[in-house]
Amino acid sequence: MEPTRRTKIKDLLETTGDGRSVLCKGWVRTKRGNKNVAFIALNDGSTINNIQIVVDVASFDENLLKNITTGASLAVKGSLVVSQGSGQGVEIQASDIEIYGTADPETYPLQKKGHTLEFLREIAHLRPRTNTFGAVLRVRHALAFAIHNYFNSKGFVYLHTPLITGSDAEGAGAMFQVTTLDLKNVPMTEDGKVDYSRDFFGKSCNLTVSGQLEGELGATALSEIYTFGPTFRAENSNTPRHLAEFWMIEPEMAFYDIEDNMDLAEDFLKYLIKYALEHCADDIAFLCKMYDNELIDRLNFVVNNDFVRLRYSEGIEILEKSGHKFEFPVSWGLDLQSEHERYLVEQHFKKPVILTDYPKEIKAFYMKQNDDGKTVRAMDVLFPKIGEIIGGSQREESYDKLAARIAELGIPEKDVWWYLDTRRFGSVPHSGFGLGFERLVLFVTGMSNIRDVIPFPRTPKSAEF
Ligand code: 4AD
Ligand code: MG
Repeated sequence: MEPTRRTKIKDLLETTGDGRSVLCKGWVRTKRGNKNVAFIALNDGSTINNIQIVVDVASFDENLLKNITTGASLAVKGSLVVSQGSGQGVEIQASDIEIYGTADPETYPLQKKGHTLEFLREIAHLRPRTNTFGAVLRVRHALAFAIHNYFNSKGFVYLHTPLITGSDAEGAGAMFQVTTLDLKNVPMTEDGKVDYSRDFFGKSCNLTVSGQLEGELGATALSEIYTFGPTFRAENSNTPRHLAEFWMIEPEMAFYDIEDNMDLAEDFLKYLIKYALEHCADDIAFLCKMYDNELIDRLNFVVNNDFVRLRYSEGIEILEKSGHKFEFPVSWGLDLQSEHERYLVEQHFKKPVILTDYPKEIKAFYMKQNDDGKTVRAMDVLFPKIGEIIGGSQREESYDKLAARIAELGIPEKDVWWYLDTRRFGSVPHSGFGLGFERLVLFVTGMSNIRDVIPFPRTPKSAEF
């Protein structure tokens, strides 16, 4: 019987070659062969592995075969048989081939193999068709799914916090303004300021840098929530770890202290890595082979070992005594740079580190103040190769202490009155953290540039695709 429904290549490769008729569709990765027989490697993105299509040249139109080149899209009918060659269990003996779309070898940018990642960034609209980006995007998907799975199984509520915000209290980074004002004719007030009362929202608005403050509103009603959405930072930082648009996961939990918060962060990260190892084995094995030989060992190591928990002050002491020459010299009060974080993780402890109790001056206003008057109950999780992957804290639940800190920092009351209401009415101890999704994907895939783990990266001077 003729099959009318397509079977995905992943599913075909998992079955046995019993000679049954199958229909499969995808894009040509390679074609080779001789005047009698052609071998087409077809991929449909369902797996890193291609299925081999065996073509008896004499039975097909010469022109059709000529147009089957790398990048062309095909529908292939044939019988699924045990593969003669080594390396795969089954192949398709083609009886019928339809070309959906050709890809001119003269102009198709992915005609040849082995392009650099830099070159592929310039053709981000086509790079999902490479093995590397197929693998990265499947791992990214699996991690996103696992995140929802994890929190759902623990009874956390997925809270959708706004992307457009009227407050810039968080102070996590420079913001992108959102406006419908005519930039060629900006309305001004009498005292020479932009008249935002005439703007869309009647006030100055920005894209959010974090969903945390609204997340706290949810947690102080639903107990445990998480957000998972895009966030935006307009810093001009051209590093392999920063994007202007990145995704963040922010759980926020009532009745959690900093210890509970650390326990959750560690358990969460281990769950996600384990999930990827189990569900993306082929893709991770490919990335390990191509980009980072130690990848699988590193992932297993993180899953199987306790994270080190250490105070910032102790971390500074270790760095000072290390004798290592850092670009940014170390002293108490320093906002740790990636070089310091990686020294602690990679050289000193050789394990992930959770650093706590940072100086209040380098952390956000909402963090719980310690009794020493100098530090706050912050926690950053530091990972090998990445540096900071999570930033979080226990939150200050005392209205008086929080209001005092807000006043000290000169944050306008009009920006935070609604936030302060959580401390005015039924305030509770609570904690939360933010996991940078792309930094997690970087770690799990072993890629080294954050631009290569998001389909369409947004960085300074770059928003083409
Ligand atoms: O440390 P951050 O700035 O913390 C917050 O935004 C808090 N509101 C989180 C919370 O407590 N709910 O950012 C959290 C994480 C960082 O640890 C990092 O992994 C990632 O977000 N991150 C970035 N990832 C990519 N590009 C950027 N520009 C990033 N900035 C932060
Ligand atoms: Mg941080």
